[in-house]
Amino acid sequence: MASYVKAGNDGDVAPGTVKCIRIGDRKIALFNENGTLVAFDDACTHVGGPLSEGLCENGIVTCPWHSAQFRIADGTALTPPAGGNLHRYPVRVEAGAIEIEIGD
Ligand code: FES
Repeated sequence: MASYVKAGNDGDVAPGTVKCIRIGDRKIALFNENGTLVAFDDACTHVGGPLSEGLCENGIVTCPWHSAQFRIADGTALTPPAGGNLHRYPVRVEAGAIEIEIGD
């Protein structure tokens, strides 16, 4: 069953930046895209590069390993060698806490 898990506090991720969040054994890249929080697996769909260490510019994150690019708003793969779109997690802010919905 999916449930929301606290991932930090509102304001932890500044606009235009990304932070790696660990929830259990998962690594999640939490982006602040113009004030909207967006979460994906922190693993590029090529061979798993850490997108939380990538360059964020103009709504696009560039993988630090081989430069695949993804649209931050929805995780769409934009350039090779990406192996597909990113897995996105629902995010909400409740009473000042950032929460990410994690499935089983
Ligand atoms: S691991 Fe991201 S482009 Fe290769």
